[in-house]
Amino acid sequence: MNSDPAPLPRILILASGSGTNLQALIDASRVRGFPGQIVAVGCNRPNAFALERAAQAHLETFVVDHTKYGSREEFDGALMAEIRRHNPDLVLLAGFMRILTTDFVRALRGTMLNIHPSLLPRYTGLNTHQRALDAGDKVHGVSVHFVTEELDGGPVIAQAEVTIDPDDTADSLAEKVQQKEHLLYPIVARWFCEGRIQLGSDYVLFDGELLRQPMRLPDDRVVH
Ligand code: GRF
Repeated sequence: MNSDPAPLPRILILASGSGTNLQALIDASRVRGFPGQIVAVGCNRPNAFALERAAQAHLETFVVDHTKYGSREEFDGALMAEIRRHNPDLVLLAGFMRILTTDFVRALRGTMLNIHPSLLPRYTGLNTHQRALDAGDKVHGVSVHFVTEELDGGPVIAQAEVTIDPDDTADSLAEKVQQKEHLLYPIVARWFCEGRIQLGSDYVLFDGELLRQPMRLPDDRVVH
């Protein structure tokens, strides 16, 4: 009889920039008992600091430089080939600044998550902090969602809020939101690896039940 423990779910992370979320995921995955293993980090920018973080953590890295491809389809094809090589169970977009083609997204349906710096469905796209300020919002935050064909539009799994203070700027807000991001993404990655979250047709199943509201992370605690 084979008594080897089951292999941990394989996580592949895609990033484009400084990689602070990547770092949070690396740190979480190193804690004893984390139910997944990061198998590779991919980047579309050869100089991204995220690559350095991955190398420091002795993780395998790859670069698919979008400037070297004539079309989105070609770029996505090359990226998919790299992803397939690592056979991941979960793909995490962590500040990956490329719009992905429909075919690419469909191929990874239910296994790809993104972190977005707003309380979706508010403020899809860019400049979310400034837009929240301009709208006079009192709260802002971050969402982790399944990636579907609609940009930043897939079903939301979990959110964390921050309060907008009168003297907040886009930069100060970004900093507050990032602190929450670094708590939230590892928690959701853990849930996925434990098999607790699944994508239905246009909804999330949490522990096999329809998730009616995104999970919330107030004051560093998760409450259902
Ligand atoms: C984060 O704010 C994330 O929400 C957004 O891109 C940013 C990435 O930051 N999708 P970092 O590279 O993880 O520091």
